[in-house]
Amino acid sequence: MGHLHNRNIIIGVTGGIAAYKIAELTRLLRGDGAAVRIIMSRGAQAFITPLTLQSLSGHPIHTELLDETAEMGMGHIELARWADAFLVAPATADAVARLAAGRADDLLTTAALATPAPLFVAPAMNQQMWNNPATSANIQTLINRGVNIIGPGAGDQACGDVGPGRLTEPVDISAKINAHFPNRALEGKRVVITAGPTREPLDPVRYISNHSSGKMGFALAKAAAEAGAETILIAGPVMLSTPEGVTRLNVETAGQMHEACIEQIHKPTDVFIGSAAVADYRAEFSAPQKIKKVGDTLNLNLIRNPDIITEVAKSKHRPTVVVGFAAETEHLVEHAEAKRVAKGLDVVVANDVSRADIGFNSDANMVTWLDNIGREVIPLTTKQNLAKLLMMRCSKRLSPTSDNDEKMATQLEGDR
Ligand code: PMT
Repeated sequence: MGHLHNRNIIIGVTGGIAAYKIAELTRLLRGDGAAVRIIMSRGAQAFITPLTLQSLSGHPIHTELLDETAEMGMGHIELARWADAFLVAPATADAVARLAAGRADDLLTTAALATPAPLFVAPAMNQQMWNNPATSANIQTLINRGVNIIGPGAGDQACGDVGPGRLTEPVDISAKINAHFPNRALEGKRVVITAGPTREPLDPVRYISNHSSGKMGFALAKAAAEAGAETILIAGPVMLSTPEGVTRLNVETAGQMHEACIEQIHKPTDVFIGSAAVADYRAEFSAPQKIKKVGDTLNLNLIRNPDIITEVAKSKHRPTVVVGFAAETEHLVEHAEAKRVAKGLDVVVANDVSRADIGFNSDANMVTWLDNIGREVIPLTTKQNLAKLLMMRCSKRLSPTSDNDEKMATQLEGDR
């Protein structure tokens, strides 16, 4: 939500196999609007080339403490002062020890010591090294000093071991950095979100519905409200509590959701997100009394429900940005893109609902963002993190040119 706009972030990269993940992290942070400068230790340069990170960060890589040319441009103290956040990732066991000891014998540790910015450390090392009491003590020292430790995660390691010590995924590191900064990028904006399933009655006790829990839509509403938006959540029947600062309108059927959405967009709306799993069909007639068990078969006549998001997107009260979700079990990207075009959406978020670990009723999700420019996979993360990322992107679509972009352009000028 571009709430990293105008934020300067230094990433100090040390020599671990996970150093290659800093390419993705740099891209994510810049995507959130941050200006990123990178310091690489000598070891880090053995795992990923400075040129790769230079291209992705848009700035020369800082490597030497005593470098005349660098000191003439941005000296180490100036660099340390420039940062709004200082992240060491991956932080090897040695880097953790040196930070804990307050060493200042290379550029990375010197800048970390000299920065007034909050320090984040994302350790990555062999599980035995992580479990070593020396490392635990060093980490505790850093925590006691107010350093934010991110991870590590656990799992298969490059060395063949299994256990804690994996670098936290870039998308989750980026979310931690984002969470640190007040995020009011949607201040003054109005966001309407649909969430959960709809229920189409067959009789007073039975209905047609689906497995949507509402978690994705509620996470989006929370992220929108936290970003300062006036947030209206039109929710199907779900067992979730309303996020703080969100106005919730409860509905049961697609017809009621349709009516609520059309009414809401009469008020000028900046972003509309359809994350609800709306039933495409309803029973032509809902029996007034419980249907009795007669015969071996029962035929139900189903008729089409209105396509809510299509009407929203084609309305004369069209919100500035209309985002749909596409729940697909096959040909994810092709089917989702077809929906984007047919429904007149700016963006479609493609959700593979054939997997049990993502999509319906899970706490995590992995989606593909599709818009008129192209497509991008957003790796597996929690629905809460994903919601923040998606709201950031919506905010960016509302104001594509940010102050920070200008600031970065000026800095690039200065670097030439
Ligand atoms: O609720 P969770 O358990 O957290 O799960 C999240 C989710 C999987 C439900 C969510 O991420 C998701 O993918 N939602 C869209 C589900 C869906 O109905 O997809 P669709 O491909 O059928 O619909 C495409 C778009 O049209 C959606 O934005 C949908 O809200 C909208 N639609 C569909 C039918 C209809 N009659 N009216 C609509 O507005």
